[in-house]
Amino acid sequence: MQNLEKIYDFHNHVVYGVDDGSDSLETSIKMLQQAADQGVTNVVCTPHQFEPIAPTYPSKRQENIVERFNILKKSIKDRKIPIELSLGSEIMFFGNMKKYLSLPYFSINDNKKYVMIEFRLIGPPINYVDVFYDLVVNGYKPILAHPERINGLYNDRTNLIKLLKMGVLFQINTGSILGLLGTRAKIISKKYLENNWIHLLGSDAHSLNFRRSFSMQKGIEYISKYYPNVNLKEILETNPKAVINGEHVEVDISNINFEVKSTTNGINKLINKIFKKNKKLL
Ligand SMILES: [Fe+2]
Repeated sequence: MQNLEKIYDFHNHVVYGVDDGSDSLETSIKMLQQAADQGVTNVVCTPHQFEPIAPTYPSKRQENIVERFNILKKSIKDRKIPIELSLGSEIMFFGNMKKYLSLPYFSINDNKKYVMIEFRLIGPPINYVDVFYDLVVNGYKPILAHPERINGLYNDRTNLIKLLKMGVLFQINTGSILGLLGTRAKIISKKYLENNWIHLLGSDAHSLNFRRSFSMQKGIEYISKYYPNVNLKEILETNPKAVINGEHVEVDISNINFEVKSTTNGINKLINKIFKKNKKLL
């Protein structure tokens, strides 16, 4: 195992009572104790954000999130749980997302730069490359949450490579790597690990339930054992620290393989053709 001074969990729902994650302060404290027991030193809290619909949105909801985050922060300090908390969001992709991104803590650590965006699991939105491009040219640095969980997204490699070239960061879930989120996510997460298309790691913990709990230690051990090509120090310490501080993170695209190796079906052959054709445009 590589020498790690810090271990950041970059994705979880440990702020209580604000989404489908932790249901109480007590649960949140237990979850964070569990994380600390696994060696996690820093937790970036990322409550869900959906398309704002209520007239008062997001002020009241954001106030609740910030208030509960601060209570949680104080509670773990009082109990001497050695974890440092930061606050951000996991924003569900929607059309007019850009106008909400400067709201308090929609960005990671409220730095108005890095924004973590998720797609619906049923499949990627049609125009995601255009929307991400628009965000990038407007000064944002998008992070794509758990791409390995999105149905069909990995087959859209031409566009995924475009995202990487734009500097979009990919956050992978430990639960996917360990097979806790289904076979498909496990298989696809291996592709991201093989390609080194992983810039941040998160538990996506929602509760104390084994399947959705902090599973960082086992995830790190798994990567360390089977994917020595992955730089754990980078994904667990250097990159998250830079993101929180709003600093640049280099996305390495030197290893991008334009050939899709598997030839199990005709679609892959077609993708190879498109890769070759688009190589100059990318
Ligand atoms: Fe999440």
